[in-house]
Amino acid sequence: MLTLNLKGCDTFVKNAEYQQYVQKALAAYDTLDKEDGAGNDFLGWKHLPSETLAGPILAQCKDIQECWKAKGVDLVLVLGIGGSYLGAKCAIEALNHTFDAILRNNGAPQVVFGGQNLGEDYLCEMMDLMNVRNVACICISKSGTTTETAVAFRIVKQYIEKKYGKKEASERIVAVTDKARGALKSLSTQEGYKTFVIPDNVGGRFSVLTPVGVLPILIAGFDVEAILKGALDMEQKMAVKSEENIAVQYAAMRNLLYSEYGKKIEILINFVPKLTYFAEWWKQLYGESEGKDQKGIFPAACSFTTDLHSMGQFIQEGDRVMFETLVSVQKPQRSLVIEADEQNLDGLNFLAGKSVDYCNHMAQLGTKLAHIDGGVPQLEVEIEKLDEFNLGQLFYFFEFACGVSAYTLGVNPFNQPGVEAYKKNMFALLEKPGYEEATKEIRKRI
Ligand code: PA5
Repeated sequence: MLTLNLKGCDTFVKNAEYQQYVQKALAAYDTLDKEDGAGNDFLGWKHLPSETLAGPILAQCKDIQECWKAKGVDLVLVLGIGGSYLGAKCAIEALNHTFDAILRNNGAPQVVFGGQNLGEDYLCEMMDLMNVRNVACICISKSGTTTETAVAFRIVKQYIEKKYGKKEASERIVAVTDKARGALKSLSTQEGYKTFVIPDNVGGRFSVLTPVGVLPILIAGFDVEAILKGALDMEQKMAVKSEENIAVQYAAMRNLLYSEYGKKIEILINFVPKLTYFAEWWKQLYGESEGKDQKGIFPAACSFTTDLHSMGQFIQEGDRVMFETLVSVQKPQRSLVIEADEQNLDGLNFLAGKSVDYCNHMAQLGTKLAHIDGGVPQLEVEIEKLDEFNLGQLFYFFEFACGVSAYTLGVNPFNQPGVEAYKKNMFALLEKPGYEEATKEIRKRI
């Protein structure tokens, strides 16, 4: 079960202040609950765990899985960017064997991500991989017009059609997109691709429990039902309005640290390398939801102990602008005990009989105390182990808490107007039809 521990903030904040922020967070909770706040047409994510479990999506995804299995597909390219890739990417990284790309022993097709950048070498190297593998593709784009994803999809589509023929290609390509709008939808209808719908009322960064996440995670061989059950359990817990609600507590503490103590940066930290991409998902969720109207906590991430050897100095002694949120995992899935060595040349016999995880937990505790001493408050979210159920809990908790926190901050959690600025400039520079005036203007600046 997921828990939240705020003791690492005790020496930084006064209880009376914290209680004030709990009241603010409870008011924000009401806004989210009554669905009368800004962006209230994007609240479909709230009931996704129950809806996805009860609906036909899981069975439809399993049909795709069976179809591709029968064809011997061993490589699935998942194309998408931002909210259309980070959820699946982080879940697969969290659940997979760290060296799966080399060992290849879970029996499922290898899932590789593309369309999340415009790197020419990246795409060329993806094609090298396609040359030697039996390929299928899932293209994910809610708008159906995102340039990075569309460019990658054009290349992959042409490649698959050339390799397998047009008819076979239509069975090897699946689209996840809007029910009616966008180029990806019309193209899919014309080419006869199987499509999954991203509901209108679910924004990209809240879409991991729709087919956006469900299909790639299932194809990669993981128990999506257990993820949804973990999320459902959290959905039920979050439905209780109370000062004990951990989303309310998380939102209250981070807003207090930000507004009253100048803590403008939140670092999501972990001591489990498999959570590195989870932090990328979380960064988008909080960054896009809160960073607007000249407000917002800047979401950063570190994976410890690795990054203690690069960022540890700054966190310990640099500008005191940050707090940490630790995602802590109680127990590893496997065990490894350090053995005694007769010669003890490395001087490590004091660890003989101890597990590696015990050492990791001592590093975690030592870091917490050091960072608190250095002026960095620490919040701690703990799960029992890194499995599907607990991952589902993390997804739903952080989504719900994000809604509460952004309303506490006073911004609309569900829009992202700032994302358009670079696109307008890029289209002007690329001379996209319709951007003629913008092209002339931008050329004067360069
Ligand atoms: O959260 C968001 O809205 C964004 O990150 C989008 O998911 C991202 O820009 C991709 O958009 P689309 O799915 O329309 O291709």
